[in-house]
Amino acid sequence: MRVGVLTGGGDCPGLNAVIRAVVRKGVNTHGFEFVGFRDGWRGPLEGFTMPLGIEQCRGILPRGGTILGSSRTNPFATDDGPERIEANLAAAGVDALVAIGGEDTLGVATRLAERGVAVVGVPKTIDNDLSGTDFTFGFDTAVNIATEAIDRLHTTAESHHRVLVVEVMGRHAGWIALHSGIAGGASAVLIPEVPFDIGKVCEHVETRFRSEYAPIIVVSEGAVPADGSGMSLQSGEKDAFGHVRLGGIGDRLAGEIERRTGKEARAVVLGHIQRGGTPTAFDRWLATRFGLQAIDAVADGETGVMVALRGTTVIRVPLAEGTDELKVVSPEEYAEAQVFFG
Ligand code: F6P
Repeated sequence: MRVGVLTGGGDCPGLNAVIRAVVRKGVNTHGFEFVGFRDGWRGPLEGFTMPLGIEQCRGILPRGGTILGSSRTNPFATDDGPERIEANLAAAGVDALVAIGGEDTLGVATRLAERGVAVVGVPKTIDNDLSGTDFTFGFDTAVNIATEAIDRLHTTAESHHRVLVVEVMGRHAGWIALHSGIAGGASAVLIPEVPFDIGKVCEHVETRFRSEYAPIIVVSEGAVPADGSGMSLQSGEKDAFGHVRLGGIGDRLAGEIERRTGKEARAVVLGHIQRGGTPTAFDRWLATRFGLQAIDAVADGETGVMVALRGTTVIRVPLAEGTDELKVVSPEEYAEAQVFFG
């Protein structure tokens, strides 16, 4: 059997660990051959491939990024996209595809599976917003990077008696903000799921200064003020899946805090640092187990599924289960963290 592998959407630490596990088990246990598709769905769409075997996977376990490259190409945005993919898979002699991606990449995989393409999905994203799985790989690394940043910001904020606002990624889900904010002892965590009250945020700032500490406010890039002033956008630009590029809320918030409290406030945008570099041990472990289970699903002829973590077990669920609905922070889980605000 010849299996194609691709990585799509925003990259995240652990992609190479999945590729390595898929290939190692595929070759050694199942006797499969592989072909790498470059740059997400652009690979099968344009017949853009690279050799993929044990050789190409040597030494990649701890490496961030993806040896296959990635893109946000949406084949369904092109008239004959799906047909071209089917033709290119047939031309490359590919019997099944392992698609490693988030909501968008796996959304495409779901639609191709409905057309009869044999595809198995592997859920990745630093945002951790895919339903069907307890965790996606990449998230733990992003949270650790954000937590380390918060730890460092505490000491400099205290030296200068400043407010530091830390803007983290996560798109429409506040998981990175919530987990790193709890781990880093933030004075407030603002998430997209719950519009924030700027007056309350300023109260938390004042309270923290009264206790001789400097406040750290963690804000998710998709967080919005409750007064309905709208989402803060870096630009109106949209990607091929229709997502607007977020960013800028950290600066706006720091300006507003400074104006209202009279305390100096600065913003730090962590940005792509959260997505780059080496994966944590947890992400390497999860990515490896996802890869092993994905290639076993191919060997079992069980396609149209996505691998998923439930507790400590990796299971297979229908692809649509992972992409139908975004997994966001519940009001209860957010309320739990609020005891530490201020
Ligand atoms: O989905 C992962 C993610 O990093 C989001 O947290 C963020 O909003 C988006 O991708 C940024 O995408 P890009 O790197 O394409 O600007």
